[in-house]
Amino acid sequence: MWTYQNPVRIRFGAGSLNGIGDLVHGRAYCLVTYDEPIFHDMAQRIAVTAGPAALTIDNVVPNPDFHMLAEACALFAAAQPVPEVVVALGGGSVIDAAKVVAAGGNGFGAVKRYLEDGAGEDALTSIPIIAIPTTAGTGSEVTSWASVWDTDTGRKYSLSRRSLYATDALIDPELMLGMPRALTVSTALDALSHSLESIWNVNGNPVSTNHAVNAATEILDSLPGLADDLGNLDLRVRIARAATFAGLAFSNTKTALAHSISYPITLRHGTPHGLACSFSLPMVMRSVIGASDACDTGLRRILGSDLLAGAERLEEFLVNLGVSVDKADYGIDDEEWRGLIESAMTGERGRNFIGSQERVVESLGAAKR
Ligand SMILES: NC(=O)c1ccc[n+]([C@@H]2O[C@H](COP(=O)([O-])OP(=O)(O)OC[C@H]3O[C@@H](n4cnc5c(N)ncnc54)[C@H](O)[C@@H]3O)[C@@H](O)[C@H]2O)c1
Ligand SMILES: [Fe+2]
Repeated sequence: MWTYQNPVRIRFGAGSLNGIGDLVHGRAYCLVTYDEPIFHDMAQRIAVTAGPAALTIDNVVPNPDFHMLAEACALFAAAQPVPEVVVALGGGSVIDAAKVVAAGGNGFGAVKRYLEDGAGEDALTSIPIIAIPTTAGTGSEVTSWASVWDTDTGRKYSLSRRSLYATDALIDPELMLGMPRALTVSTALDALSHSLESIWNVNGNPVSTNHAVNAATEILDSLPGLADDLGNLDLRVRIARAATFAGLAFSNTKTALAHSISYPITLRHGTPHGLACSFSLPMVMRSVIGASDACDTGLRRILGSDLLAGAERLEEFLVNLGVSVDKADYGIDDEEWRGLIESAMTGERGRNFIGSQERVVESLGAAKR
């Protein structure tokens, strides 16, 4: 028996940003974005059809942490009139920051307490969210959680609530045309990781796996071309669609081992999320072959009937994009790596992984080069 559900209404297509006025529908809105010139221009385009923002929060930086989020929530709490909807314009960091603002309308203290102790959910707010992703990777526009980073203590939390599903995701691949190569590649690999992680997952089901197979197949097909032709709108459309499918897949399963391994790597070494959660995928794949028929079948649909050869193909794909699969290139030595694997297996996301610790450790040895 299985269930699948995702409540986000998706509007997808080149030029779809022009429809934002219909979605805001005259409500007072708070725009959350980055303080960078191309985002000022996009914000301007939004203002043309949706009217000026009642409040703009633009202090977002990659991997939003407690300090940044406390500032953002304080700005929201002081706003008069109180915005009726939060519009997120940016990558995963912006959409996740917007989710925190939507929950922390009474101040960040309530969010922090909920994250740290699981207490006080009734003090959280549930402001509706419209998500406009400008990267094609995180899928945050169709998930009900936000990554929150506590850089002071070196911890990563997930704020997870049903009300964090955006009411609408407006996905306009034209907004992604300005992404440089490194960002294009790392964010698309994040989406690839979401697809595979939803397949080797205790929560996998036929709908999530179908979305994941479509997403991963498309990313393997079109990312190398896009990496060499960044202004190609057709390829941007394909990768944006794939990232959306990947988001729909893991919105119902959450992630698994590769993500669990990645968080301390990002915190300690500053590795961008998309690289940190994808360089280990071939190793994780080798460790899971044969663990479940459903997983094997899903992986075969993406990588061919010989799964060991498929893992090699996945590794070549990464290496050809210039992404190392050697942990040493991320500044990780053998001892740290062993610790990472051990704690990842027992971490919240690691427990979603269908494979065994023994096989992971075995495959980890093979991953050393
Ligand atoms: N909530 C979820 O479901 C979920 C899933 C995966 C990852 N995440 C989180 O998302 C964050 C990563 O988000 P991200 O990878 O989208 O990057 P990001 O939002 O951190 O942005 C990184 C940089 O990309 C630039 N950028 C964004 N869009 C651009 C564009 N169109 N053109 C040029 N530059 C652009 C920004 O200026 C920014 O400096 C991490 O904190 C990660 O943990 C959340
Ligand atoms: Fe991710």
